[in-house]
Amino acid sequence: MNRDCVLKVIGLTKKYSVKKQQAVNAVNNISFEAYKGEVLGFLGPNGAGKTTTIKMICSLIKATNGKIFIEGVDSNKSRSKSLRNISAVFEGNRNIFWRLTVRENLEFFASLKGHNPKKIRDKIQYYIEFFDLKEKENEAARNLSRGMQQKLSIATAMVNGCNIILLDEPTLGLDVKASYNIRKLLKEIVKEENKTIILTTHDMNVVQDTCDRVIIMNKGKIVAEDKTKNLLRLFSMKKYNFVVEGKISPEQKKEFKMIPYLDIEEKELETEIIITLENPQIFYDVTRILSKEDSIIKNIENKELNFEKVFVKIIGGSEESA
Ligand SMILES: Nc1ncnc2c1ncn2[C@@H]1O[C@H](COP(=O)(O)OP(=O)(O)OP(=O)(O)O)[C@@H](O)[C@H]1O
Ligand SMILES: [Mg+2]
Repeated sequence: MNRDCVLKVIGLTKKYSVKKQQAVNAVNNISFEAYKGEVLGFLGPNGAGKTTTIKMICSLIKATNGKIFIEGVDSNKSRSKSLRNISAVFEGNRNIFWRLTVRENLEFFASLKGHNPKKIRDKIQYYIEFFDLKEKENEAARNLSRGMQQKLSIATAMVNGCNIILLDEPTLGLDVKASYNIRKLLKEIVKEENKTIILTTHDMNVVQDTCDRVIIMNKGKIVAEDKTKNLLRLFSMKKYNFVVEGKISPEQKKEFKMIPYLDIEEKELETEIIITLENPQIFYDVTRILSKEDSIIKNIENKELNFEKVFVKIIGGSEESA
């Protein structure tokens, strides 16, 4: 299938030079694409380079190296043309004007990309209702709750008709319900309007619920990139949990410790031996070590993994191979 590529990034690099200190390789030669109608999530530990990447895409900061094509237009060569179709919301609450009302903020941001506010009145109305802000439409933004302000920020990025929306940590600091609402709204918007959303997050619920694809960064580099469901499947198929009655002996423990990626969880009445089947031989090794002392295996489970564990494993693996 030939998917519509709306963003192509090639060899993107950012070195920050801070006076008298060694330059920081915040983003180190990364390449990726984003497609129409998808939510692409960027994850990675603090300092991985996620925000820097987003800032370079929307030209807030200049890349040290690399190329960015937005809907086919080289952003180095034709900055304003390439940016016409991109809008961004950064982490924190500086994306909207405190003194303007909800409606005025939307009118202002719509007009920024050259739209006549009168003409897009219907659209503004649509987003006010879509984001559940009707009751507050004439309230100054500073009087809204944090979640409402965040919804308004995202609405301002949508209302200007851009096809590519960049969101830096869209659910940061929100309560469970507000975060859930935003996840739901993002999914709906992508489906209904065929936009592309590229977001950064530390919230694994955002990843599991909304991201079609995920790019994991660590120390400025991409360490994994795949569909969310593939990453989950990849790991859940390979993870097994042996539930053993009672305790295991110190000798068994010593032998288990020699097996890579094996975790032991000792509980009061049972012991869990969790293995990752990178090498099927491990399965036989575990049963051999257990049967040597007649340990009783109560159950062998194919362990369900959530994205958090997948993430920790990928980052761990990338540290080891670095
Ligand atoms: N303006 C700056 N000047 C110097 N170094 C910077 C600047 N902005 C970011 N950095 C450095 O670049 C690296 C990447 O930072 P970035 O903000 O992109 O990370 P991040 O992945 O968004 O992290 P977080 O999850 O904490 O938001 C870090 O080492 C950071 O200290
Ligand atoms: Mg960041």
